[in-house]
Amino acid sequence: MFGDSLPVDMDVLISVAILCDVGKLLEYSLDEQGNAVVGDYGKYVRHPFSGVVLVDEVGLPAEVQHIIAAHAGEGDMITRSTEAYIVHHADFMTFLPFKNRIKPTGK
Ligand SMILES: [Fe+2]
Repeated sequence: MFGDSLPVDMDVLISVAILCDVGKLLEYSLDEQGNAVVGDYGKYVRHPFSGVVLVDEVGLPAEVQHIIAAHAGEGDMITRSTEAYIVHHADFMTFLPFKNRIKPTGK
């Protein structure tokens, strides 16, 4: 879209769009009613961190690890790659407008 002025590695972008929440498998567990709740591990280690550990264990590159680390609010403290900005904003669009938005009158 922006040509050479803003190159995007589509392989990295798509792989992380799929993997960015992989750490949630460690962050959540099921309660007695079968509801997903933050588990003991998740109380201490959020999924951006555990996700980096998981993808590092299988040898995925630093570019992928960076985006997983930066996709959530924790990433606001660092400079994101272009692909990380895309994943971060796409990720937040899946819940922010549902959780917090100005609603037109009568809607
Ligand atoms: Fe996430």
